[in-house]
Amino acid sequence: MSYILAIDQGTSSSKAVLFDEEFYQVAVSQEEFRQIYPNPGRVEHDPRDIILSTMSSVENVVSDARVSYREIEAIGITNQRETVVAWDAITGQPLCNAIVWQDRRTTERCKELREKFGEKIHLKTGLMPDPYFSATKMEWMLQNVPAVQEAAKRRTLRFGTIDSWLVWNLTREKRFVCDYSNASRTMLFNIQELKWDRELLDMFGIDEEFLPKVVDSCNALGASIYGPEIAGIAGDQQASLFGQTAFSRGDAKCTYGTGSFILMNTGSEPKYSRHGLLTTIGWKLGKDIIYAIEGSIFASGALITWLKEGLEIIASPSETESLAREVQDNGGVYFSGALTGLGAPYWDASARGTLIGLTRGTKKGHIVRAVLEYITFRTREILELMEEETGIKLKKLLVDGGVTRNNFLMEMQANVLGIPVDRSLIKETTALGAAMLSGLCTGLWDMEVLKNRRISEVEFEPSGNRMEEEFSKWKEALRRSMNWER
Ligand code: G3P
Repeated sequence: MSYILAIDQGTSSSKAVLFDEEFYQVAVSQEEFRQIYPNPGRVEHDPRDIILSTMSSVENVVSDARVSYREIEAIGITNQRETVVAWDAITGQPLCNAIVWQDRRTTERCKELREKFGEKIHLKTGLMPDPYFSATKMEWMLQNVPAVQEAAKRRTLRFGTIDSWLVWNLTREKRFVCDYSNASRTMLFNIQELKWDRELLDMFGIDEEFLPKVVDSCNALGASIYGPEIAGIAGDQQASLFGQTAFSRGDAKCTYGTGSFILMNTGSEPKYSRHGLLTTIGWKLGKDIIYAIEGSIFASGALITWLKEGLEIIASPSETESLAREVQDNGGVYFSGALTGLGAPYWDASARGTLIGLTRGTKKGHIVRAVLEYITFRTREILELMEEETGIKLKKLLVDGGVTRNNFLMEMQANVLGIPVDRSLIKETTALGAAMLSGLCTGLWDMEVLKNRRISEVEFEPSGNRMEEEFSKWKEALRRSMNWER
């Protein structure tokens, strides 16, 4: 039996998942790590925590499964995207904390960029100037962190997304690479010419030699420190699109994690949105490149965490299902979950949450239900926009991620969308995507085998009630949450 080890380095935890050649998930190990919030709007990770938590999950999964590293055919890596690490090539040490994708410190700079160069940047990178992406995080480090400035002068500075940081640390030869899907999230990569964009590098003051070499998503990168080769890399959302076997134009998935990330495969040509969706590289396998159109909702699972840890109105995430079922409807309560601003298609970093329609009769269940409605309504508006802009009519939505365990939410999602919502049997779809990419690289599987492997756990059928009235009232609540922190 051959095994593939997938590393899924996410925003709040690092995970290692071992799959066998029949795609059976043999073992999983997960380790949470520290989130650093230096002040409101700033989110950082210690890059050493990222490596240590990754390494301990790898060691644990291998010992739990009682396999030896020699039995592992290859390693696949998938990761939280956009987050930037700066390190020194000689010492290998980080020069400061990583700036996480959720960090909003470059909001002002992005406003200015959007006004002056918004269209140009969109055409080159498929992205909208927003603090979400890596470019202004790197620029901020170069302007504000003395250790980064000194390393730049010595020419030993290395900037990377999390895949680069992991590959550097986990390959024996300390390879300095990132894959096309991760590069396409930096706002420095030209997604048509498939190279770092000179004009953008100059705009942000970044020297190309500080950036990794961009490689295919399937690529033999040499032996890892554990022995097996790292052979596949993809950003986590692209990896789950691959893991869901969304190989054909028009296939779409939504991963409900910290945020919700909706991606639709648009084939071998980039499709540009005029209304705030992103164009991104799905994967590149030799000559074959797949583009995707993406809509990101910054907070979805994070809202459930906020109900538990912030408001303390639920004891566990599963309670959201029973509480929402206890009430007949939302009781006139509407919620905008713009706790860290609004992503696609609004890109309003100044938006903040609203809870509206409260009365003396409002119960906990109404608030919980309004939060769940927010998640499904945001998904609907993004998918409708995708259909409009691509001209592709969606037949069903493939779903994964922790939040999809809530059956009430999934039923409501199918109703609101008016199409079936298909939850995959394998829960770790993101890790599976990375495993599939590396198994493809070593020849363990081919595309035909991969195409036929997806198993649906349950398909939620729409009831016919699309909740039109609630949807339009909710849009008003959402509008009121925009443009708040001026
Ligand atoms: O773009 C951010 C995304 O990659 C983060 O994903 O699963 O770590 O929340 P996740």
